Amino acid sequence: MKIKSQVKELTFSNKKLDLQIKIQRISKKGNGVGFLTPQKSTPFDINEVHVPNTLPGEVVRVKPKEKLGKKVFGDLIEIILPSPHRQPPKCNSYLNCGGCQIQHMNYNSYLEWKKESTLELFQKSNIEIPNFVGLIASEGQKRRRASFKFKRTKERSYIGFHKSRTNQIIQLNGCVVLSADLLYTKQEIFEGLDKIVPNGTEMVIQVNQYETGGDILLTSDRELSNKTQSGLASWASNTKIKRISLGYKGESEKRLIYQDSPPSITWGGIEISPPPGSFLQPTIFGEEILQNQIFSAYKNKRHCLDLFSGAGTLSANLLTQKVRITACDNHRDCLNAFRLGYQKVKQNNLLKTEIRNLVTAPLISDFLNNFDGIILDPPRSGANAQIKQIAKSICPSVIYVSCNAISFINDAKILIEGGYRLKDFKILDQFSWTTHIEIIGTFQKE
Ligand SMILES: C[S@@+](CC[C@H](N)C(=O)[O-])C[C@H]1O[C@@H](n2cnc3c(N)ncnc32)[C@H](O)[C@@H]1O
Repeated sequence: MKIKSQVKELTFSNKKLDLQIKIQRISKKGNGVGFLTPQKSTPFDINEVHVPNTLPGEVVRVKPKEKLGKKVFGDLIEIILPSPHRQPPKCNSYLNCGGCQIQHMNYNSYLEWKKESTLELFQKSNIEIPNFVGLIASEGQKRRRASFKFKRTKERSYIGFHKSRTNQIIQLNGCVVLSADLLYTKQEIFEGLDKIVPNGTEMVIQVNQYETGGDILLTSDRELSNKTQSGLASWASNTKIKRISLGYKGESEKRLIYQDSPPSITWGGIEISPPPGSFLQPTIFGEEILQNQIFSAYKNKRHCLDLFSGAGTLSANLLTQKVRITACDNHRDCLNAFRLGYQKVKQNNLLKTEIRNLVTAPLISDFLNNFDGIILDPPRSGANAQIKQIAKSICPSVIYVSCNAISFINDAKILIEGGYRLKDFKILDQFSWTTHIEIIGTFQKE
């Protein structure tokens, strides 16, 4: 790819059906998007062109690759007019790897873009944002969880992320977002699998890097023989890995292959050992901001409800202040881990857990009225059914943590219609160089 400095007219170029467009915005997936008026002379009935590694304001030449409805996805061939916000990516694998999307923008512009594009969604939805302090940047904090793809062929093994929109595994070379400990664990498990698993093995390797060590969940397409499993276990005993578990696609059951000692994490003085593959906030920095915000708002509450609680990340520290907690999640093993951790330190029996599918069986508003604070941290799809019940309740305060601005906005509208007001709002950058954000909003019943 070369960079030219003169601007050309925006039109289809005459040869090889390349498109020449001006990039107007960045899409949810991180692609630059330009627009075209369909022309009779072209074989495309399109109006949007999506191009990775481009920035708003840039004039680029694009090789169309794939058409989806009225959108065409293309490869960048040439930057005719570069953006002043462009920088060379810091990671050597960036142009191929699908893990990051915005490393070609300089850091300050990237933070500004992340903030503004999120705020724009709120403005369009007419949700008023109070006390906004700006986007909280991760200050170089690295991620401690990742999901890698692994493949063993006759010739060699591969580990890395999928190249965007393909199944090709891109090996990481100089990754700038994952923590050094996580990258070390990745390399260790790669070497073990490369030695031990048979040709043709494909798996997803989920690594949660706790302070006490790496916790690995392998999800394989095909059965691993007992011999392979015990080979992995004896190999792992000479590594720093804490635990290796195995699951098969479509099955929830996990088998323990190897354990040095259970990996653990400490929240509010409670040592919790989350189950394999458990949700973990991606950075320690992000986790602490969320915990501190909830702690300072709820430390004097009587009884709080932690919905989509996982193993208690966001409410465990409230137990130290004698706040009663009821934690609900559909993940039995996460709730057990929370309860077992608490049982080791409890002075009073303040924690109750309930296994519940909050999408199909939300807690009803009459029950919610028993609490003086609700914490809610649903998956990306949001919590529509549960939010409708909260909106009908008289619980005075709701703190909503979300990794998806669109579902947060949809749910916020329901709360606002139900008489809640957004009192505090923060955007965190837990996912550096990607389009993902973390939101924490505090609502009060008026
Ligand atoms: C974003 S994680 C948050 C976990 C925890 N609050 C934390 O900060 O670590 C979402 C949680 O929702 C749970 N979950 C997903 N679908 C659910 C459902 N239908 N009903 C209840 N819990 C669900 C998952 O098990 C997971 O623990």
